Amino acid sequence: MKRIIAPSILAADFGHLERDVEMINRSDAEWVHVDVMDGVFVPNISFGFPVLRAVRSVAKKPLDVHLMITDPERYIARFAHEGADWITFHVEATSDPLHCAQLIRESGARVGVSIKPKTPVEVLRPLLSQVDMVLVMSVEPGFGGQQFIVESLDRIRAVRLMAEELNPELLIEVDGGISSENAHLLYEAGANVLVAGSSVFRASSPEEEIRKMLANK
Ligand code: DX5
Ligand code: ZN
Repeated sequence: MKRIIAPSILAADFGHLERDVEMINRSDAEWVHVDVMDGVFVPNISFGFPVLRAVRSVAKKPLDVHLMITDPERYIARFAHEGADWITFHVEATSDPLHCAQLIRESGARVGVSIKPKTPVEVLRPLLSQVDMVLVMSVEPGFGGQQFIVESLDRIRAVRLMAEELNPELLIEVDGGISSENAHLLYEAGANVLVAGSSVFRASSPEEEIRKMLANK
């Protein structure tokens, strides 16, 4: 099964953003994960369009934009216009997830839908055939550097089972508390895309940490 690493620039040094995005360009990571927080859907504010543009101008890899914002439909076209290749919204953040998925599709970006750790995976069933990726949060969204919630492994398995029936091509992404220490557990559970912030940017060699996350164990 395909494996993709998406380093999260939330953990980058914003004083040296170009340097950190260049590291991702050189590395074996396939995507750049971009966390957008509005201070309403989550109790934290990260950054918006000017930073996205700066990342876009340096990154040679697809931008995987994770919207932790309320009523994401308001900004989907703008994120696509600013260079998002993947746009993931939270099912908890909108009253009409199917419409949200459709807006992302129409914008030309690939479609992701995310669930917080306490949201039942069953809410995904009516959406699975309409999206390209499910993002299973393995921490409460809002902050980097939190501890991986072990119960997420069962949730990934449950999404993979549902996907076998409804959308065999579905990518499953996992985000929060991931490192080369637990990556193999996530692949075994059925995940394809691993997001990693702190483990990559705090490693003495970020590129080596990315290689280790990709390697079989
Ligand atoms: C959390 C964000 C994550 C965050 C992960 O709300 O969605 O992408 O950057 O950070 P780590 O890898 O440090 O848990
Ligand atoms: Zn994220």
